Amino acid sequence: MNYKDHHKESMESPEKFWGKQAANIGWYTPPKTILSIDEHDYNQWFEDGVLNLSYLCIDKHIEDGYGAQNAIIYESPVTQTKQFITYDKLYQEVAKLAGALSDLGVKKGDTVIIYMPMIPEATYAMLACTRIGAIHSVVFGGFAPHELAIRIDDCKPKLIITASNGVEIKKIIEYKPLVDQAIALSHHQPNNVIIFDRKQGVTYETLARDLDYTSIVKAADIMDPIPVESTHPSYILYTSGTTGKPKGIIRDTGGYATALKYSMENIYDTHPGDVFWAASDVGWVVGHSYIVYAPLINRNTTILFEGKPIKTPDASTFWRIIAEHKVKVMFTAPTAIRAIKKEDPNGAFIKAYDLSSLTHQFLAGERCDVTTLNWAKEQLNVPVIDHWWQTESGWPMIANMMGIEDLPVKPGSAGLPVGGYDIKILNDEGEVVATNEPGYVAVKLPLPPGCLSNLWGNPERFKAGYLERFPGYYFSGDGGYMDSDGYIYITGRVDDIINVAGHRLSTAEMEEIVATHPAVAECAVFGIHCDLKGQTPLGLIVLKSEKNPYNKNVKQEIINSIRHEIGPVASFKSVAIVKRLPKTRSGKTLRKLLRQIADQNDYQTPSTIDDSSIITEIEEVYKSEKIGKYKI
Ligand code: COA
Ligand code: AMP
Repeated sequence: MNYKDHHKESMESPEKFWGKQAANIGWYTPPKTILSIDEHDYNQWFEDGVLNLSYLCIDKHIEDGYGAQNAIIYESPVTQTKQFITYDKLYQEVAKLAGALSDLGVKKGDTVIIYMPMIPEATYAMLACTRIGAIHSVVFGGFAPHELAIRIDDCKPKLIITASNGVEIKKIIEYKPLVDQAIALSHHQPNNVIIFDRKQGVTYETLARDLDYTSIVKAADIMDPIPVESTHPSYILYTSGTTGKPKGIIRDTGGYATALKYSMENIYDTHPGDVFWAASDVGWVVGHSYIVYAPLINRNTTILFEGKPIKTPDASTFWRIIAEHKVKVMFTAPTAIRAIKKEDPNGAFIKAYDLSSLTHQFLAGERCDVTTLNWAKEQLNVPVIDHWWQTESGWPMIANMMGIEDLPVKPGSAGLPVGGYDIKILNDEGEVVATNEPGYVAVKLPLPPGCLSNLWGNPERFKAGYLERFPGYYFSGDGGYMDSDGYIYITGRVDDIINVAGHRLSTAEMEEIVATHPAVAECAVFGIHCDLKGQTPLGLIVLKSEKNPYNKNVKQEIINSIRHEIGPVASFKSVAIVKRLPKTRSGKTLRKLLRQIADQNDYQTPSTIDDSSIITEIEEVYKSEKIGKYKI
């Protein structure tokens, strides 16, 4: 079948289409009801089906005779270690940890926070939770205790699983004190903290609630998977919204498993037994879906990479791993390719390795510039496929579906709507715009299986943020346009969210922190162009008074406070003092204009601006401080 017919079928008879896909995974009770409406008037998939994610990722393959196949290859250039973890070994690790969690009273429906570096135990922890129907919430290690505390108070975990430390290039990041600080900041107090000691010379204080991961696993019995309903939440993943409070995206079980299996075969053209590598982190949605659940459901070998595209030890790491483990399909963020290109512009490292196993290179997580895409294509000599999705969707919404039809790649476009997604570009009134006209990227309801089933504890925010802006549609928060062949071009977020090195961050949250500094009268934080990370945050501040004693180290103190409150992942390194901020006559700060000036993009002075002479003042500050495109 070609792409057009495939997509048409998914639109014309979604229940038949997804019913067929659901039959490709194992169920304890196969669903009879395919699509239904819940008490929040929102669609759910396969509500009477019963299954278990951990079973699908592990036990099923052992029953089918593949226990000796590698499930995970752990590649850690930062610790110079490798581990080959077969499905049999994964079973032992996960089933015993599930037993240990159960002994500690963790039951179906309880929440567990996982705050771990990229080590196999992080994946064991995720799979042990889903094995017993516990809902995990993985928090990325680059977030500070304050951010972890927000998540603890929101999802109220019964316990937290962590590790002694992470390794960032050559720096040891001690995780245990960060967890202790977060719990001290939280109202909710988890019963226990389980610590995996990496034995890398890091010592930590042991409190009454602390338990040693290795000892409790050793003492535990094997635990069988617990059947759960298709709509049972498998996890909560927090992501940045347009306010200081992150949103807890809820993922179901049956819809997710069905969608992931479908995506592996039809989008990524990856089949059981293949080696698949998503170079991301388990703290992000890419890590949940394409390091852990999708490749394991699909009986692939997944690479778990603890390192960076450069400096661990150099820009050859990706290619060495592809050659050594015969990776068939790889997925990373454009930032990683830009970082490699900067270090190795002529691809000398690429030429030094046998990359004949690689059939496709997928890119996502941020906008992919044409130069980066073309460079990767020339160097790797395989199709380089940009594709678009979000934490909310859990799997791709726009792509070039390599398992269906190898359609031409149009650089700059993320491709065509994936099966199940009816993507429309809308204007302010919610009307579909003409071809090539810019607008808001929205998806006609119902969303296909696998997408968010609600926001944790906040169905009102879910409705207001995603469903009410354009009735009958899911609003993605991105802008874009569609060409006459149906290819979609994503132009960027239309809200206060920025994307720094593929990491989604809220500038509104940063602004709230900057505004609390005693020297600051008002401020604006927004994303400006960065050649490496795509975007980087910039803070502009207006001081309360010229003579305020708090002015002395104001810039550094603000930088430190963002690092302290949000974490190093914010990459917040730039603050400038301005006399005034440009505003509309109704008092709204013109952040888009501030960004356009820094990026030296063409802009029109908004007719609503209160005082246009501020623009020259801002330009002068950018010039003198060498900000954005004024660096040169
Ligand atoms: N735990 C603790 N700290 C972390 C962390 C983690 N898991 N991940 C990142 N950090 C820290 C880094 O050490 C760095 O701290 P610093 O300011 O003290 O140097 C900061 O957060 C920013 O990290 P990062 O954005 O990774 O920048 P970098 O300069 O260390 O590396 C790149 C630059 C381009 C190599 C890196 O951003 C990269 O590999 N990007 C690929 C993008 C990607 O995989 N995105 C995933 C989404 S698909
Ligand atoms: P996250 O939820 O962290 O995965 O971030 C999702 C956001 O990243 C999207 O809303 C987009 O703004 C951006 N994004 C992801 N993939 C792409 C892509 N291929 N092209 C453009 N933007 C992207």
